Amino acid sequence: MSEHRADILTRTNAGTPMGDLLRRYWVPAMLAEEIPEPDCPPVRVKLMGEKLLGFRDTKGRPGLVRELCAHRGASLYFGRNEDCGLRCAYHGWKFDINGQCVDLPSAEKMAPRVKIPAYPCIEQGDVIWAYMGPPELKPEPPGLEWSLVPGSHRYLSKRFQECNYLQAMEGGIDTSHVSYVHRFEFDADPSLSINGHLPSKKYIVGDPNVVFHVQEKPSGLTIFGRRNGEIDSFYYRITQWIFPWFTLVPPTGQRAVAGHIWVPIDDENCWTWSINYYPDQPIPAQERKWMEEGAGIHGKAIAGTYMPVANKGNDYLIDRKAQRENRAYSGVFGLAIQDSSLQESMGAIQDRSIETLVGTDAAIARTRSMLLQALKDLEDGLTPPALDTRSQRVRSASVLIDKNKNVEEWALQALEARKENPVYSL
Ligand code: FES
Ligand SMILES: [Fe+2]
Repeated sequence: MSEHRADILTRTNAGTPMGDLLRRYWVPAMLAEEIPEPDCPPVRVKLMGEKLLGFRDTKGRPGLVRELCAHRGASLYFGRNEDCGLRCAYHGWKFDINGQCVDLPSAEKMAPRVKIPAYPCIEQGDVIWAYMGPPELKPEPPGLEWSLVPGSHRYLSKRFQECNYLQAMEGGIDTSHVSYVHRFEFDADPSLSINGHLPSKKYIVGDPNVVFHVQEKPSGLTIFGRRNGEIDSFYYRITQWIFPWFTLVPPTGQRAVAGHIWVPIDDENCWTWSINYYPDQPIPAQERKWMEEGAGIHGKAIAGTYMPVANKGNDYLIDRKAQRENRAYSGVFGLAIQDSSLQESMGAIQDRSIETLVGTDAAIARTRSMLLQALKDLEDGLTPPALDTRSQRVRSASVLIDKNKNVEEWALQALEARKENPVYSL
């Protein structure tokens, strides 16, 4: 890919083409747990290069405002969250969740004319979502199934990732890597099997030559990774990519549906969100405990932070002995860190001029071309894809499908996120 195109896809600061596109969507800004109660301490939030502060006011309403005060630019992080607003600690100017100055002690009459940038927020599915685009184009709230199920049915985590969002997201839609870097994880991680047994493991490990094809939809892609199954069937891992940064990845065993979001912090860092949910039942206690401990797609964080314990600074705690003994394919443990270690190893922004894409990268190539097309359409004044909530209501699958069946037709019906449809997981 040319440097110019790669640049367009990876740069997301305000005023860049991709920055403008991403700002048309609700942005996952914080976990609701980061601002757990009214008047709690504000949190620093950096999104797409913008330094912001998240807080919850006295009425419990979430807000996201520019970090720096309108007076002389001190950080409101050191301010006081009180009486429905953040008061700057320096000279006492106070701002509400809309960024409006509501108290300006040294020149009271000026307050109505003073504002700091602020973005509207909603709380849905344990996430504080912010809308950072043109106010008149604010879309309806997200319709993703995981964000609408009861809290008992869902577990969410986020982790700091030291690379551009695009190469991380491209890792999420590339299911061929499962047979390599994650190869031994199914034995090492109890949360990925059912009492030590995983029916799909024999297909995943037994046939590393995944045959990919992608089905393009207005809202994104359905990605089919086909491996040998039984005599009369193929084993499919079916991933959904939904504009602009959501994936739903195939579940394992009888486990919950899984998904990710990759949100740019700036051009060289992103938040990787990981989601597990059941459409129709609470997450069993043991499974939730595993997730909280960082098993499966979640990863273990340094206490009180969203920084993984195994990170770039310590070579992800690579264990060469475990690698030799086939306990961890790369010597790094955990699905989450296996992914981030390799994605971060590409550099802060992957140099795509040296890459060699092959058939198994079809989904990556198609995603890039769809994003570029959406950028062009945006320039022409068209509405970006997947803003209608119906198109977001899909699921992933891990499933055996009869060789004679048209899998694309099957998926259109069976993977719609509807109550009547079971979760297809092996
Ligand atoms: S810098 Fe904030 S009140 Fe003066
Ligand atoms: Fe992975």
